[in-house]
Amino acid sequence: MATVALPEDVYTRIDRVIAAKGSDRDSLIEVLHGVQEEIGYLPQPVQEYVADRLGLPVGTVEGVVTFYSFFTTVPRGRHLIKVCQGTACYVRGGKRVLEAVSKAAGCGVGETSPDMRFSLDVVRCVGACGLSPVMTVNEDIYERVKPTKVAEILDRYQ
Ligand code: FES
Repeated sequence: MATVALPEDVYTRIDRVIAAKGSDRDSLIEVLHGVQEEIGYLPQPVQEYVADRLGLPVGTVEGVVTFYSFFTTVPRGRHLIKVCQGTACYVRGGKRVLEAVSKAAGCGVGETSPDMRFSLDVVRCVGACGLSPVMTVNEDIYERVKPTKVAEILDRYQ
């Protein structure tokens, strides 16, 4: 799993987000969204800082970050790959697509490649079952994906 040092100005940037979203307890989710947009993820020191600024126990912030799947505590790559593992995709080769993606991207599910190029997640049906197996890269959807074509697809994302 890749880890990166926090930017030097991280706390100034968090302060800016809090100034925009509010520093009361009810603003927690909005603040966490803003901070994740600003620095990409929510590592432990950042959660502690937000808790301090909003006057909340660290455990409350950790609980919210853990509960909502859109929050991440690990750095994300420049491109987010999602491979569908819903039933239709799975029976039409989705597992082999996932293996090929993991190999080509250089990271497992829930991880980021060491070069910060890709993060990999799985999803359970993206509503394109008739065109399975399906994967997405950022906003782009790829249908009827063949494992042999995966490396070629990922080459488009540097
Ligand atoms: S199961 Fe993959 S798109 Fe529906």
